[in-house]
Amino acid sequence: MAPSILLLSLLSALLVNNGRVSGWGTDTEDITYVLPIYESLLATNNRPDDVTILNTMKSRIGVGGSKTKLGFSFSSWSMSRDIKSEDDDFEFDPTNLNYALDLAAEAELPILIHANNGHWADCCTSNSDGGWNPALLNHIAEAGNTTQLNNAGQSLYTNLYGGNYFSFSRYNDVYRHYKKRQVQASMSTLLEWAEDYPDLFAGVSLDSETMFPNTNADYNPLVIQEWREWLQHTGIYGPGGAYFGQGRQPRFSSISDFNQATGQNFGSFDDIVPPQTLTWGDAFSEEWHRWRLTLVEHMVGDTTAWIIEAGVLRYKIWGHQTPMVDFYGHGDDFPSAAAENGGTGLTMYGRSPADMGSANSPARALNWNNVGNFELNPLTTDTNRAYDTMLTLYNDGYKIICPNAYETVASPDQYSLFGSPNFGDVWGNAIRDFINDYSDTSRNFQPPPWNPGEKVYDFYDEFDSATKSGPDNSLVVDGTCGGVSRKTIFSHVAGTLTYSVTLPAVSSGQRLNLWTSIGVKDGASSSGGMATWQIKINGTPLFGTSGLILPKNYWTRKRWAPAMVDVTAWADSDVTVELSTTGTNSYGWTQWGAPAIYASVDDLSNNLAVGKSVTASSEDGQGSGWGTSYLADGNVIGGSGGRNGWSSISHSSPDNEESVRIDLGSTQSISKVVLHPRNDISNAAGSGFPTSFTIQGSTDGSTWTELSVQENYGAAIKGGHAEIFDFSSTDARYVRVVGTELGGVSGESGYRMQFVEIEVYA
Ligand SMILES: *[C@@H]1O[C@H](CO)[C@@H](O)[C@H](O)[C@H]1NC(C)=O
Repeated sequence: MAPSILLLSLLSALLVNNGRVSGWGTDTEDITYVLPIYESLLATNNRPDDVTILNTMKSRIGVGGSKTKLGFSFSSWSMSRDIKSEDDDFEFDPTNLNYALDLAAEAELPILIHANNGHWADCCTSNSDGGWNPALLNHIAEAGNTTQLNNAGQSLYTNLYGGNYFSFSRYNDVYRHYKKRQVQASMSTLLEWAEDYPDLFAGVSLDSETMFPNTNADYNPLVIQEWREWLQHTGIYGPGGAYFGQGRQPRFSSISDFNQATGQNFGSFDDIVPPQTLTWGDAFSEEWHRWRLTLVEHMVGDTTAWIIEAGVLRYKIWGHQTPMVDFYGHGDDFPSAAAENGGTGLTMYGRSPADMGSANSPARALNWNNVGNFELNPLTTDTNRAYDTMLTLYNDGYKIICPNAYETVASPDQYSLFGSPNFGDVWGNAIRDFINDYSDTSRNFQPPPWNPGEKVYDFYDEFDSATKSGPDNSLVVDGTCGGVSRKTIFSHVAGTLTYSVTLPAVSSGQRLNLWTSIGVKDGASSSGGMATWQIKINGTPLFGTSGLILPKNYWTRKRWAPAMVDVTAWADSDVTVELSTTGTNSYGWTQWGAPAIYASVDDLSNNLAVGKSVTASSEDGQGSGWGTSYLADGNVIGGSGGRNGWSSISHSSPDNEESVRIDLGSTQSISKVVLHPRNDISNAAGSGFPTSFTIQGSTDGSTWTELSVQENYGAAIKGGHAEIFDFSSTDARYVRVVGTELGGVSGESGYRMQFVEIEVYA
């Protein structure tokens, strides 16, 4: 087959799946799974009893229809209950998992498995039968330097009731060995079953909460060793290291730089020890907390990679986090809920539907707009509120919803769907009504945040038309947050910008989405309070009642936080849109990065780069998954079909120039370029991304205009998270990325420029 024909057939096979782009979400994009958590299936049970229990659940809730389906979800206790003896080195015992899977098949109910191997690894609630076998967990804890330690060096591992706090260091070989082995074995069991019942396999969620118990963790010596290496790009973060290219950005090249940045006085990197008590806003504490957040993200990302390696499709794997409940104590920032290379997963208890937008908007924007909720209970006697809990998640694009919990014990606890001592049958009945009402209605199609669609309104471009109040409102063509520039509306705290906007009509299935990023301007003080961003349309708040909140850490470690919200409800009307910020005035250097409204498109036709010709300053790895032909092929999933993306040759130092160029075929107006870091499944996901680069445009291929300039690119570069660059509309036929400081590549000792995909938009 001629190469061009091969490329075309690959393109058409990959791009569209029932009118949807397969890489934009699950392969069942339009199905919503409602999967109550039911933890009581044990192989020692009386099977006919369990069949009856599942059939009773079906009759009480209803099984739904073609688009909204009832099933159930349960934990795989592969670190505790489901293990063999010490003589067998605690290998995974599939007996209980197979029993539960067989019952799902018999009951014809789709399932999701909570790969619950984190701090709840031996469970549980009083209603979860048989979770108690701490033999493996104790074995790991006894190995030494495996558990989280407090500042006095005491282990925080307490085993029962969610106390399995193992250190997240990548040097924690004992813990990681067992965790990886157990989770992969349980996934193999699951996948064998899923081969026979593909329609019943809804997916996998990760540990119920990957986090710290409190601020007084994790002082494990392995964590401190790894931190020092991460700061200066040595050891596993240095040349030849397994995670080379994923160290802190920018790196500290001398101890005096570190001391200056943190107000410390260490003699060498080896002397660095973390602060013993944490003072929020203090540069040293915040630098340490930045590392704590990174540890959580690594654990979530690495677990996702292990599960993908075991054979589960990456878009069927979701995080399972409770971000922002205790940002500093638990260290579970939103990006940890957006599992690297997987989907975003949240837990919500007692949350008001009116306030869900403050969580759902960032959750949608963080990676592939592939969102699920893995523990949900409104804890209310209000039937409308319970119903709206389901409806709000559905409207916000949640693909999987796991109400907690279907209980069949004699004395159910407050979480029970039916017979809760506090809430009666309210939650169960709301789920029943929701499934009944939406059984054959497709959930709204939600595009990925890097391509919310065709821009229909740009708040930056229309700034002059807005009414402004507050101390300081202005435009900055390349405003920076953490050194990352974006076309920015600067609006000092207590500023409000009011726009009159005519929103277009949309066609059936099409969505209007407002995308923005929020961030604190570089140069702002690191001390002080929180600030909140809110957008209202005709007075209705889009980001929940509490708005989008950035904690102090975002002042010290500046970085953009993205958000996306569906505003289709206001299509085809004239509306008032208010962008406002609140907070402590003296600390408020608040910015809106590239806020705009988009109309979704159903395919990749608005990506001006797809299928266009690519040339590069160098090329490497052809024949093993790399080449310019993969850079604009519409496939953002590295490794699929053996195609990772494009790689330059390797250089011995980062200070080398490499460039890659796309010819759009004709001159067009462009205002956004999206760079996808490599995300093939290996330690290398996210590496090879340049740290200093410019994006340039040209009409003739010889005179170039700088569209976006990035130095020490400090974003959370992770596999599956697109890096978005917005700039003022410019005419260009050629677009190129020129890297001047290249990225290290995992497991190699050299530096390259690598991307899995480049996209260009009007
Ligand atoms: C734990 O780490 C400390 C400090 O690196 C080291 O001295 C000690 O030998 C380690 N203990 C074990 C059991 O590995």
